[in-house]
Amino acid sequence: MVTETLRSWAPGRVNLIGDHTDYAGGLVLPMAINLGTTVTLQPGGNTLHLRSARRQSLHLDLPLGGVLAEDLTTLEPAWGRFVAAAALELASTVGGSGEVTTTLPVGAGLSSSSSLELAVALALGFDGSPLELARFGQRAEQVASGVPSGIMDQLTIAAGVAGHALLIDCATERHRAVRMPDSVEVWVLHSGVPRRLADSAYAERRRATEVAARLVGPLAEASLDDIEAIDDPVLVRRARHVRTECDRVRVAAAALEADDPTEVGQLMLQSHASLRDDFNVSVPELDHLVLELSSRGDVFGARLTGAGFGGCVVVLARPGTDLSTVRSDSWLVQAGDGARLL
Ligand code: GLA
Repeated sequence: MVTETLRSWAPGRVNLIGDHTDYAGGLVLPMAINLGTTVTLQPGGNTLHLRSARRQSLHLDLPLGGVLAEDLTTLEPAWGRFVAAAALELASTVGGSGEVTTTLPVGAGLSSSSSLELAVALALGFDGSPLELARFGQRAEQVASGVPSGIMDQLTIAAGVAGHALLIDCATERHRAVRMPDSVEVWVLHSGVPRRLADSAYAERRRATEVAARLVGPLAEASLDDIEAIDDPVLVRRARHVRTECDRVRVAAAALEADDPTEVGQLMLQSHASLRDDFNVSVPELDHLVLELSSRGDVFGARLTGAGFGGCVVVLARPGTDLSTVRSDSWLVQAGDGARLL
Protein backbone atom coordinates (compact mmCIF):
# COMPACT_ATOMS: atom_id res chain seq x y z
CA MET A 1 0.00 0.00 0.00
CA VAL A 2 1.36 3.43 -0.90
CA THR A 3 0.67 6.02 1.80
CA GLU A 4 0.11 9.63 1.01
CA THR A 5 3.01 12.04 1.48
CA LEU A 6 2.39 14.39 4.42
CA ARG A 7 3.52 18.00 4.62
CA SER A 8 3.48 19.91 7.86
CA TRP A 9 4.35 23.51 8.53
CA ALA A 10 5.18 25.26 11.80
CA PRO A 11 6.03 28.96 12.04
CA GLY A 12 8.68 30.62 14.17
CA ARG A 13 7.68 33.36 16.56
CA VAL A 14 8.76 36.81 17.60
CA ASN A 15 7.81 38.29 20.94
CA LEU A 16 6.61 41.91 20.75
CA ILE A 17 6.76 42.40 24.52
CA GLY A 18 6.81 40.31 27.71
CA ASP A 19 10.07 38.43 28.12
CA HIS A 20 11.12 36.24 31.04
CA THR A 21 7.54 36.37 32.31
CA ASP A 22 6.10 33.12 30.90
CA TYR A 23 7.75 30.72 33.37
CA ALA A 24 6.77 33.10 36.19
CA GLY A 25 3.07 32.83 35.33
CA GLY A 26 2.98 36.26 33.67
CA LEU A 27 1.76 37.85 30.44
CA VAL A 28 3.36 37.78 26.98
CA LEU A 29 2.44 39.32 23.61
CA PRO A 30 4.17 37.36 20.83
CA MET A 31 3.11 36.56 17.27
CA ALA A 32 3.67 33.57 14.99
CA ILE A 33 5.54 34.71 11.87
CA ASN A 34 5.53 33.89 8.18
CA LEU A 35 8.94 32.20 8.40
CA GLY A 36 9.02 28.59 9.54
CA THR A 37 9.76 24.91 9.07
CA THR A 38 8.30 22.49 6.55
CA VAL A 39 8.53 18.72 7.00
CA THR A 40 7.66 16.43 4.07
CA LEU A 41 7.26 12.80 5.09
CA GLN A 42 6.36 9.59 3.36
CA PRO A 43 5.13 7.70 6.44
CA GLY A 44 5.85 4.02 7.05
CA GLY A 45 8.25 1.59 8.70
CA ASN A 46 9.81 1.88 12.11
CA THR A 47 12.72 4.11 11.22
CA LEU A 48 12.68 7.86 10.70
CA HIS A 49 14.96 9.13 7.98
CA LEU A 50 15.09 12.90 7.36
CA ARG A 51 17.32 14.98 5.11
CA SER A 52 17.93 18.69 5.53
CA ALA A 53 18.38 21.21 2.73
CA ARG A 54 22.12 21.11 3.55
CA ARG A 55 22.03 17.39 2.80
CA GLN A 56 22.61 16.39 6.41
CA SER A 57 20.90 13.11 7.16
CA LEU A 58 19.25 11.92 10.34
CA HIS A 59 18.39 8.30 10.93
CA LEU A 60 16.46 7.12 14.01
CA ASP A 61 15.12 3.70 14.94
CA LEU A 62 11.66 3.98 16.46
CA PRO A 63 10.34 3.88 19.09
CA LEU A 64 12.99 5.81 20.98
CA GLY A 65 11.69 4.61 24.35
CA GLY A 66 15.10 3.49 25.59
CA VAL A 67 16.95 6.68 24.69
CA LEU A 68 18.00 8.86 27.60
CA ALA A 69 17.69 12.61 27.47
CA GLU A 70 21.50 12.89 27.86
CA ASP A 71 22.01 10.98 24.61
CA LEU A 72 19.83 13.49 22.81
CA THR A 73 22.01 16.44 23.70
CA THR A 74 24.99 14.97 21.80
CA LEU A 75 23.12 13.60 18.77
CA GLU A 76 24.40 14.73 15.33
CA PRO A 77 23.37 16.53 13.21
CA ALA A 78 22.39 18.92 16.00
CA TRP A 79 18.91 19.64 14.57
CA GLY A 80 18.26 15.91 14.95
CA ARG A 81 18.07 16.40 18.75
CA PHE A 82 14.82 18.30 18.36
CA VAL A 83 13.43 15.74 15.93
CA ALA A 84 14.39 12.92 18.32
CA ALA A 85 12.86 14.73 21.29
CA ALA A 86 9.59 15.09 19.38
CA ALA A 87 9.62 11.40 18.41
CA LEU A 88 10.53 10.42 21.98
CA GLU A 89 7.73 12.49 23.55
CA LEU A 90 5.24 11.15 21.01
CA ALA A 91 6.50 7.59 21.58
CA SER A 92 6.17 7.20 17.80
CA THR A 93 6.35 3.66 16.49
CA VAL A 94 5.78 4.63 12.87
CA GLY A 95 8.44 6.65 11.10
CA GLY A 96 8.99 7.46 7.48
CA SER A 97 11.34 9.10 5.05
CA GLY A 98 11.42 12.73 4.07
CA GLU A 99 12.87 16.19 4.19
CA VAL A 100 13.14 19.21 6.51
CA THR A 101 13.48 22.76 5.21
CA THR A 102 13.32 26.05 7.04
CA THR A 103 13.10 29.72 6.17
CA LEU A 104 13.97 30.68 9.77
CA PRO A 105 17.42 31.86 10.82
CA VAL A 106 18.64 29.04 13.08
CA GLY A 107 19.60 29.86 16.66
CA ALA A 108 18.69 33.55 16.34
CA GLY A 109 15.94 33.56 18.98
CA LEU A 110 12.99 33.09 16.60
CA SER A 111 12.23 29.59 17.98
CA SER A 112 13.60 27.57 15.08
CA SER A 113 13.92 24.52 17.34
CA SER A 114 10.34 24.62 18.66
CA SER A 115 9.13 25.21 15.11
CA LEU A 116 10.96 22.04 14.03
CA GLU A 117 9.60 20.01 16.97
CA LEU A 118 6.00 20.97 16.26
CA ALA A 119 6.32 20.39 12.50
CA VAL A 120 7.81 16.93 13.16
CA ALA A 121 5.09 16.10 15.69
CA LEU A 122 2.35 16.91 13.18
CA ALA A 123 4.05 14.91 10.43
CA LEU A 124 4.35 11.95 12.84
CA GLY A 125 0.61 12.06 13.51
CA PHE A 126 0.21 14.20 16.63
CA ASP A 127 -3.50 14.59 17.26
CA GLY A 128 -4.74 17.16 19.76
CA SER A 129 -5.67 20.77 20.43
CA PRO A 130 -3.22 23.66 19.90
CA LEU A 131 -2.74 23.83 23.69
CA GLU A 132 -1.95 20.11 23.83
CA LEU A 133 0.46 20.53 20.92
CA ALA A 134 2.11 23.43 22.76
CA ARG A 135 2.51 21.45 26.00
CA PHE A 136 3.91 18.56 24.03
CA GLY A 137 6.37 20.90 22.29
CA GLN A 138 7.44 22.46 25.58
CA ARG A 139 8.34 19.02 26.97
CA ALA A 140 10.22 18.11 23.79
CA GLU A 141 12.14 21.41 23.86
CA GLN A 142 13.09 20.95 27.52
CA VAL A 143 14.29 17.39 26.86
CA ALA A 144 16.29 18.37 23.76
CA SER A 145 17.87 21.54 25.11
CA GLY A 146 18.02 20.83 28.85
CA VAL A 147 16.68 24.38 29.40
CA PRO A 148 13.63 24.82 31.70
CA SER A 149 11.81 27.02 29.18
CA GLY A 150 8.26 28.32 29.49
CA ILE A 151 5.23 27.78 27.22
CA MET A 152 5.31 31.04 25.21
CA ASP A 153 7.15 29.84 22.10
CA GLN A 154 5.22 26.62 21.60
CA LEU A 155 1.79 28.10 22.34
CA THR A 156 2.44 30.92 19.87
CA ILE A 157 3.61 28.48 17.21
CA ALA A 158 0.62 26.18 17.82
CA ALA A 159 -2.10 28.83 18.13
CA GLY A 160 -0.90 31.74 15.94
CA VAL A 161 -3.52 33.75 14.05
CA ALA A 162 -2.64 35.58 10.80
CA GLY A 163 -2.63 39.34 11.19
CA HIS A 164 -2.71 39.09 15.00
CA ALA A 165 -0.45 38.92 18.02
CA LEU A 166 -1.46 36.65 20.92
CA LEU A 167 -1.98 37.96 24.43
CA ILE A 168 -1.19 34.92 26.58
CA ASP A 169 -1.72 34.62 30.31
CA CYS A 170 0.87 31.96 31.11
CA ALA A 171 -0.65 31.24 34.54
CA THR A 172 -3.87 29.94 32.97
CA GLU A 173 -2.49 29.26 29.45
CA ARG A 174 -5.50 31.17 28.09
CA HIS A 175 -4.93 33.48 25.18
CA ARG A 176 -6.68 35.84 22.82
CA ALA A 177 -5.78 37.29 19.44
CA VAL A 178 -4.91 41.00 19.29
CA ARG A 179 -5.16 42.50 15.79
CA MET A 180 -1.99 44.11 14.44
CA PRO A 181 -3.01 47.56 13.13
CA ASP A 182 -2.16 48.63 9.58
CA SER A 183 -0.12 51.51 11.01
CA VAL A 184 2.80 49.21 11.93
CA GLU A 185 5.25 46.75 10.46
CA VAL A 186 7.41 44.37 12.45
CA TRP A 187 11.10 43.91 11.73
CA VAL A 188 13.57 41.54 13.33
CA LEU A 189 17.26 42.50 13.30
CA HIS A 190 20.08 40.23 14.40
CA SER A 191 22.57 41.79 16.80
CA GLY A 192 25.39 39.69 15.37
CA VAL A 193 25.95 38.08 18.79
CA PRO A 194 25.16 34.37 19.07
CA ARG A 195 23.13 33.48 22.17
CA ARG A 196 26.00 31.83 24.01
CA LEU A 197 25.40 31.95 27.74
CA ALA A 198 21.67 31.73 27.26
CA ASP A 199 21.12 28.21 28.63
CA SER A 200 22.81 28.33 32.03
CA ALA A 201 21.87 31.95 32.71
CA TYR A 202 18.25 31.25 31.70
CA ALA A 203 17.94 28.49 34.32
CA GLU A 204 19.52 30.77 36.92
CA ARG A 205 17.07 33.61 36.14
CA ARG A 206 14.14 31.24 36.34
CA ARG A 207 15.31 29.97 39.74
CA ALA A 208 15.61 33.55 41.02
CA THR A 209 12.00 34.32 40.06
CA GLU A 210 10.88 31.15 41.85
CA VAL A 211 12.73 32.10 45.02
CA ALA A 212 11.22 35.60 44.90
CA ALA A 213 7.71 34.20 44.32
CA ARG A 214 8.06 32.07 47.46
CA LEU A 215 8.64 35.31 49.38
CA VAL A 216 6.00 37.62 47.86
CA GLY A 217 3.56 35.37 45.97
CA PRO A 218 3.03 35.07 42.18
CA LEU A 219 5.20 37.81 40.66
CA ALA A 220 2.71 38.90 38.00
CA GLU A 221 0.42 40.24 40.76
CA ALA A 222 2.79 40.77 43.69
CA SER A 223 2.81 44.20 45.31
CA LEU A 224 5.76 46.37 44.30
CA ASP A 225 6.17 47.40 47.95
CA ASP A 226 6.56 43.75 48.96
CA ILE A 227 9.04 43.22 46.14
CA GLU A 228 11.12 46.26 47.13
CA ALA A 229 11.19 44.94 50.72
CA ILE A 230 12.90 41.66 49.73
CA ASP A 231 16.20 41.46 51.58
CA ASP A 232 18.33 40.72 48.49
CA PRO A 233 18.95 43.45 45.88
CA VAL A 234 19.36 40.98 43.01
CA LEU A 235 16.06 39.25 43.80
CA VAL A 236 14.37 42.66 44.02
CA ARG A 237 15.50 43.51 40.50
CA ARG A 238 14.54 40.11 39.04
CA ALA A 239 11.07 40.23 40.62
CA ARG A 240 10.54 43.90 39.72
CA HIS A 241 11.25 43.13 36.07
CA VAL A 242 8.59 40.38 35.97
CA ARG A 243 6.01 42.51 37.78
CA THR A 244 6.52 45.66 35.70
CA GLU A 245 6.84 43.72 32.43
CA CYS A 246 3.42 42.15 32.98
CA ASP A 247 1.93 45.64 33.38
CA ARG A 248 3.65 46.77 30.18
CA VAL A 249 2.26 43.78 28.27
CA ARG A 250 -1.29 44.54 29.42
CA VAL A 251 -1.02 48.20 28.41
CA ALA A 252 0.72 47.36 25.11
CA ALA A 253 -2.07 44.96 24.09
CA ALA A 254 -4.66 47.66 24.76
CA ALA A 255 -2.57 50.23 22.87
CA LEU A 256 -2.26 47.94 19.84
CA GLU A 257 -6.04 47.48 19.87
CA ALA A 258 -6.48 51.25 20.10
CA ASP A 259 -4.08 51.69 17.15
CA ASP A 260 -1.61 53.66 19.25
CA PRO A 261 1.80 52.45 18.00
CA THR A 262 3.60 55.35 19.68
CA GLU A 263 2.51 54.04 23.08
CA VAL A 264 3.46 50.46 22.18
CA GLY A 265 6.89 51.68 21.04
CA GLN A 266 7.50 53.51 24.33
CA LEU A 267 6.56 50.37 26.27
CA MET A 268 8.97 48.31 24.14
CA LEU A 269 11.81 50.69 25.01
CA GLN A 270 10.92 50.48 28.71
CA SER A 271 10.83 46.69 28.42
CA HIS A 272 14.32 46.69 26.94
CA ALA A 273 15.62 48.90 29.76
CA SER A 274 14.08 46.57 32.36
CA LEU A 275 15.57 43.47 30.69
CA ARG A 276 18.93 45.26 30.59
CA ASP A 277 19.02 46.82 34.05
CA ASP A 278 16.80 44.65 36.27
CA PHE A 279 16.96 41.26 34.59
CA ASN A 280 20.51 41.63 33.16
CA VAL A 281 19.92 39.58 30.01
CA SER A 282 21.08 42.12 27.42
CA VAL A 283 24.50 42.58 25.83
CA PRO A 284 26.08 45.85 24.60
CA GLU A 285 25.42 45.02 20.93
CA LEU A 286 21.67 44.68 21.61
CA ASP A 287 21.68 47.93 23.61
CA HIS A 288 23.46 49.83 20.80
CA LEU A 289 21.06 48.51 18.21
CA VAL A 290 18.01 49.48 20.27
CA LEU A 291 19.47 52.95 20.87
CA GLU A 292 20.28 53.49 17.19
CA LEU A 293 16.81 52.34 16.11
CA SER A 294 14.98 54.38 18.72
CA SER A 295 16.50 57.61 17.38
CA ARG A 296 14.87 57.09 13.96
CA GLY A 297 11.67 58.92 13.06
CA ASP A 298 10.25 55.86 11.28
CA VAL A 299 10.63 53.54 14.31
CA PHE A 300 8.10 53.48 17.17
CA GLY A 301 10.15 51.25 19.43
CA ALA A 302 12.58 48.34 19.67
CA ARG A 303 13.72 45.83 22.25
CA LEU A 304 15.61 42.58 22.61
CA THR A 305 13.28 39.66 21.98
CA GLY A 306 13.31 36.17 23.49
CA ALA A 307 15.79 34.99 26.08
CA GLY A 308 18.45 37.65 25.34
CA PHE A 309 22.25 37.22 25.82
CA GLY A 310 22.56 37.98 22.09
CA GLY A 311 20.15 37.12 19.31
CA CYS A 312 17.64 39.54 17.86
CA VAL A 313 15.91 42.85 18.37
CA VAL A 314 12.22 43.25 17.46
CA VAL A 315 11.25 46.60 15.95
CA LEU A 316 7.88 48.26 15.50
CA ALA A 317 8.20 50.53 12.48
CA ARG A 318 6.09 52.66 10.16
CA PRO A 319 4.90 50.78 7.05
CA GLY A 320 7.39 51.07 4.20
CA THR A 321 10.43 51.49 6.48
CA ASP A 322 13.52 49.67 5.23
CA LEU A 323 15.74 48.49 8.06
CA SER A 324 17.84 46.13 5.94
CA THR A 325 20.34 48.99 5.66
CA VAL A 326 20.84 48.91 9.46
CA ARG A 327 21.67 45.19 9.52
CA SER A 328 21.85 42.84 6.57
CA ASP A 329 20.69 40.03 8.89
CA SER A 330 17.17 41.45 9.11
CA TRP A 331 13.67 40.25 8.34
CA LEU A 332 10.41 42.09 7.73
CA VAL A 333 7.89 39.64 9.23
CA GLN A 334 4.11 39.28 9.15
CA ALA A 335 1.91 37.71 11.79
CA GLY A 336 0.97 34.27 10.45
CA ASP A 337 -1.19 31.27 11.32
CA GLY A 338 -0.09 28.49 13.64
CA ALA A 339 1.30 25.00 12.92
CA ARG A 340 -0.75 22.70 10.67
CA LEU A 341 -0.72 19.92 8.13
CA LEU A 342 -0.70 21.38 4.62
C1 GLA B 1 12.91 31.59 25.54
C2 GLA B 1 12.00 30.55 26.19
C3 GLA B 1 10.61 31.12 26.45
C4 GLA B 1 10.69 32.45 27.19
C5 GLA B 1 11.71 33.38 26.54
C6 GLA B 1 11.94 34.64 27.35
O1 GLA B 1 12.43 31.90 24.26
O2 GLA B 1 11.87 29.41 25.36
O3 GLA B 1 9.84 30.18 27.16
O4 GLA B 1 10.98 32.26 28.55
O5 GLA B 1 12.96 32.75 26.34
O6 GLA B 1 10.78 35.37 27.40
